[in-house]
Amino acid sequence: MSQNKYYITTPIYYPSDKLHIGHTYCTVATDALARYKRLQGYDVMFLTGTDEHGQKIEDKAREAGVTPKEFVDNIVEGPRGVKDLWKLMNISNDRFIRTTDDYHVAAVQRIFKKLYENGDIYKGTYKGKYCKPCESFWTESQLVDGKCPDCGREVQDAEEEAYFFRLSKYAGKILDLLENTDFLEPRSRVHEMVNNFIKPGLEDLCVSRTSFTWGVPVDFDPGHVVYVWVDALSNYITALGYDNDRYQDYDKFWPADVHIVGKEIVRFHSIIWPAILMSLGLPLPKKVFGHGWLLLDGGKMSKSKGNVVDPYILAEQFGVDALRFFLMRTFPFGSDGNFSNELLIDTINRDLANDLGNLLSRTTAMVQKYFGGALPQGCKTWDAPESFDAELLGMASGLREKYQDAMDAFAPHKALEEVFRVIQRANKYIDETAPWALAKDMDANGARLAHVLYNLLETTRICGVLLTPFMPGSMDKLFAQIGAPEQARTWESAAAWGGLPETAAVTKGENLFPRVDVEKALQELEQAAEAARKAGLPALETEPLLEEKVDFDTFCKSDLRVVKVKDCQAVKKSNKLLKFTLDDGTGTDRQILSGIAMYYKPEELVGKTLAAIVNLPARKMMGQESQGMLLSAVHTEKGEERLNLIMLDDKIPAGAKLC
Ligand code: MSP
Repeated sequence: MSQNKYYITTPIYYPSDKLHIGHTYCTVATDALARYKRLQGYDVMFLTGTDEHGQKIEDKAREAGVTPKEFVDNIVEGPRGVKDLWKLMNISNDRFIRTTDDYHVAAVQRIFKKLYENGDIYKGTYKGKYCKPCESFWTESQLVDGKCPDCGREVQDAEEEAYFFRLSKYAGKILDLLENTDFLEPRSRVHEMVNNFIKPGLEDLCVSRTSFTWGVPVDFDPGHVVYVWVDALSNYITALGYDNDRYQDYDKFWPADVHIVGKEIVRFHSIIWPAILMSLGLPLPKKVFGHGWLLLDGGKMSKSKGNVVDPYILAEQFGVDALRFFLMRTFPFGSDGNFSNELLIDTINRDLANDLGNLLSRTTAMVQKYFGGALPQGCKTWDAPESFDAELLGMASGLREKYQDAMDAFAPHKALEEVFRVIQRANKYIDETAPWALAKDMDANGARLAHVLYNLLETTRICGVLLTPFMPGSMDKLFAQIGAPEQARTWESAAAWGGLPETAAVTKGENLFPRVDVEKALQELEQAAEAARKAGLPALETEPLLEEKVDFDTFCKSDLRVVKVKDCQAVKKSNKLLKFTLDDGTGTDRQILSGIAMYYKPEELVGKTLAAIVNLPARKMMGQESQGMLLSAVHTEKGEERLNLIMLDDKIPAGAKLC
């Protein structure tokens, strides 16, 4: 019998900036679903990648002084880039497409031409509202308060020669697809699409641009590049080998089983993509699932809102699996959710450290302590089960079915809720059976104790199997601790009580999910974020030179002199000021106050030869008079201001004029 196939995709990411936890959410969810299907025995193709063309990237590359390709190469392949992030997060994608890959570019050119030759692409003039950051055109009626409905920023009037795709032609078919099938989920997204886009009248879509060049060139009309959505959406078929020789998986895997996408790009996947496929005469994907956003303080995620959202920092601080778990456990997949670092820590402490961690460590410790690491033969069965034995067995044996229902409905949060219900039940079972009390009389109660512990190990195993798609690395360790062999880690084994061999070798290994100290962790997160911010800054920064010119006479009005430091003291009650007594060559001491106490100790400056401007009007600081100003050089290094006093050769006498 041939193996069932399953093709699942994530959106391909814009490498215009480093990815944040919101992007990670989408990829982790898709990864958990892909791993779930593999666990069930499906032959899975999981695709992710990067969407590298468009004006935003062209602009950013120009700002950075590099070519667009160099710019995206760095974010995709460079240190702590997209590929590194997916490796760190243990993402099990089978393929990674970059829309700058040659085979994709050539295939997109052919796809564009086919659409043109079919009469579905025509040339016209685009007049509309354009949101540059989102690279989206909007009609007047779609704007919210005159601004971009996605990001709320200003839009510009735009007009240029462009090719259009006859989206309007497909309105009826798309409406039927959305309303009368399960193509788009959750159902609430169908209403959004129909009411916001189809009912008001589906307009033809601008699919080429002439105002930027960083895109797939339209080969039959130089000057036009394919506007990003035809390029981006085609990735789902070109990555399988459609219209190219790079891969040969199109026949095997297309149509896709599901495209997982964020809510703001549901429109492109559930209206535009099916229309393009209809025009090409290709089968449609079976499903599009539109998940919600992770929000910060109720708004869209950005790097500047206080919470640390850098997935690298979060994974390093809490562990990859804890982060993966948190994302899937906390936020109902189809809805928006409010992200916060506190919520992350609370979830780790409650579910992983308290519930799962305790169950595992208490159980393995007791098998060690009372049976030296292996339960006796016969512990699986017990003649006189209590009601709580039956309840635990029933819940654990029935768990896979409930879990499967939830996973198949794209509700990983519900699947995890079911698993944790069983874990909590098992912890309660420990209290009910009080193994430590049974252990007091091993002759009388040894067999019962062994049975109780077997039930706990077995429940842990079943939960472990079902948690594997979410926390693959940690579940391998859990299986090692409870001595579960390969055949007890399978999907089949999760529905059958008793998969763990009675005499499995149990070891009390490392604590898989240590408790997190909230205050300390939050502080460390902030420090790590600050260090990352500094590391990302240019090493050296100097102030830009002044544009305004100064005439020579004005310059000469500044009386700059060489001075020698006779004495230097910290000013009381000030942590900034140092008080200098200086020889300026006049025979009378000059006093200057300077706010440089954080850069120098007073004693290290005595005897130094410095430069000062001496004809500034005197002014008082902290009640003391300052007669001029010492000259220093200022620059920024790794985000911190640095200051160096101008020190001169000691051979130069006090009072010499600087000119
Ligand atoms: N390049 C397009 C997708 C093309 S697919 C043919 C794109 N890229 S993106 O990098 O902007 O977004 C990628 C995915 O990340 C989208 O599904 C988007 O919804 C998701 N997210 C970005 N920020 C997010 C949150 N704050 N929360 C959840 N998902 C978020 O769109």
